[in-house]
Amino acid sequence: MRRARRQRPGLPPPPSLPPLPPWRILVDSALPWVQPRLRTMRLQLLSDLHLETEDFEPEPLAGAEALVLAGDIDATWAAYSRFAGWPVPVFVVPGNHEFDGRDLLRALPAFRALCQRLGFTLLCRETAAFTASDGRRIRLIGTPRWSDFDLFGAAQRERAMRSARYFLRLMGATRGGQPLDAAAIREEGLACRAWLEAELARSAVVSSAADSCAHAARRWDATVVVTHFGPSLASADPRYGAQPGTASFCNADDDLLPRADLWLHGHLHCRHDYLVPRVGQRPTRVVCQARGMLDKGEPVGFDPQRLIEV
Ligand SMILES: [Fe+2]
Ligand SMILES: [Fe+2]
Repeated sequence: MRRARRQRPGLPPPPSLPPLPPWRILVDSALPWVQPRLRTMRLQLLSDLHLETEDFEPEPLAGAEALVLAGDIDATWAAYSRFAGWPVPVFVVPGNHEFDGRDLLRALPAFRALCQRLGFTLLCRETAAFTASDGRRIRLIGTPRWSDFDLFGAAQRERAMRSARYFLRLMGATRGGQPLDAAAIREEGLACRAWLEAELARSAVVSSAADSCAHAARRWDATVVVTHFGPSLASADPRYGAQPGTASFCNADDDLLPRADLWLHGHLHCRHDYLVPRVGQRPTRVVCQARGMLDKGEPVGFDPQRLIEV
């Protein structure tokens, strides 16, 4: 997403907001759980290519078993055809810019039809199953997870929603014929959150008494969540940090993070790769692999040839 100016002259300074979560751990250490494992599924992740204006040619990544497109690939949709015939399955979560100048309710069926035509699996409040080459069953759960503006709590919601006006004007979208304003975005965000929470509450273990083998009774071996918006303040763009406008980029879904093994997102035009501790389990890994805008220097550090393992 393109970001609004930080603060216009004459406006009061932003409120004091909490710092980034202290548990954020960068994946550059020698922790045993980030070392290569014998059984891994390898993903290619791309988002925020903004091919409606950017000059970038996506290429398949050797060794990847699936490609995840996490939104803001092309506001015109035309460049999605570049992924047709991709050598591995393609999973798509739309970003906010896929709805630029469109009506949200009418555009979604058309976008779904486009994905079907191109052979992609659309994940818009949907779950897909994927069997990796190592035999493990991977559950992919996808939703744009629009912003609910509660990143800093209910007391800051109104201020966060006001700060969203600029980017919503840029989008120029509608929903059911009415302007897609912050209130409408919040409604969508809360619906995404409710769906995601219910989906993540499902147990991988089949409860039938007929299942005597614990391994055979598992419906999936790993859970990958894909959202366009960021799931935590820890995913904030370090150029802007914690300010009211950040609530247009990240949600406070920290309580859901431990229910996923891997959480992929876009929307922030920067890169993230961090771990969230879980009791008795490997940490949840959160990855953002956005490219962003060249004229803003955002692709510096962007590595489209980076495999993500789960
Ligand atoms: Fe973007
Ligand atoms: Fe975005």
